Amino acid sequence: MNRIFSGVQPTGNLHLGNYLGAIRNWVALQHDYDCIFCIVDLHALTVAQRPEELRANTREVTAAYIAAGIDPDRCIIFNQSAVPGHSELAWLLGCITPLGWLNRMTQFKEKAGRHRENAGLGLYSYPVLMAADILLYKATHVPVGEDQKQHLELSRDIAGAFNRQYDTEFFPLPEPQILGEATRVMSLRDGSAKMSKSDPSAYSRINMTDDADTIALKVRKAKTDPEPLPSEAKGLENRPEAANLVNIYAALSGMSKDAVLNEFGGKMFSAFKPALSDLAVAKLGPIGQEMTHLLKDRGLIDGILRKGAERAGEIARAHMAQMHDIIGILRP
Ligand code: AMP
Ligand code: TRP
Repeated sequence: MNRIFSGVQPTGNLHLGNYLGAIRNWVALQHDYDCIFCIVDLHALTVAQRPEELRANTREVTAAYIAAGIDPDRCIIFNQSAVPGHSELAWLLGCITPLGWLNRMTQFKEKAGRHRENAGLGLYSYPVLMAADILLYKATHVPVGEDQKQHLELSRDIAGAFNRQYDTEFFPLPEPQILGEATRVMSLRDGSAKMSKSDPSAYSRINMTDDADTIALKVRKAKTDPEPLPSEAKGLENRPEAANLVNIYAALSGMSKDAVLNEFGGKMFSAFKPALSDLAVAKLGPIGQEMTHLLKDRGLIDGILRKGAERAGEIARAHMAQMHDIIGILRP
């Protein structure tokens, strides 16, 4: 059976982009694939985290997966650091990854900013750890938002480099799955910036735990332009804020963009925004409530993570042993 691996960092502020770009798509895929969904805490540590918040955010992402509809009996849900193979394989893959490949990564350049000399080694090797996550389980498919495309291409290149170096077909080349009408959800305040957990403006994003009033307020305050909505997708060109809201509506409703514009073309944002906010409340409200409910039962969440780590660990250990053989690492 084809295997899926994907993950979200426990860095707080889970938002509509995480939901529409990633988690929501996983829910549908769990019936057709053998699925492993990770809370990538080691990746989160590439940026300073407060210990108490990291712990809480790890549980929050777990609750989000389950509340969104991922079945912890069917899928493996665990936190990355609980399976030591991720770190070990990241080292092994780092040894065959040329610096030139890492130097092309745009996310590193963005996150490191102008003071690149001060950026940590972990931030630089972040994509190698991501390749290790995927390859440790020999995953064949990786459902993510569009921003992860370059990292996935690198994962494929690293898998290929390993296979060539050891003259084997041990690793499948993982396929990205970038699905839905909202693969890149933009900030509600700026149609040229990605919706992000770290944006200082709370109005830039809709969080998965926002209540109905907060969602309505954020949609009402979302930046738009003074024109009515166009009646076909072509009319959204050069209107990034309008395009973003239409994409969100399409993704949440399961309609195509054209169908949305067919319904709202010619209408003003004053008519579209209330419809969008009702839709967002209808779709996200129950998930947020379920998250809050689940998070009251730490024992339940921790039990799911513990069981997930055991199941993931079993697969990882078997693959690591095979890799030791291939590489020539002696286990006397
Ligand atoms: P992160 O929050 O960086 O751990 O991302 C977790 C998942 O959400 C990845 O699959 C990302 O591609 C996806 N994601 C994050 N932000 C967005 C966004 N603004 N639009 C669509 N997908 C996103
Ligand atoms: N880098 C991903 C992100 O920030 C998270 C991630 C880590 C991931 N390891 C992964 C996603 C493996 C898919 C597969 O969004």
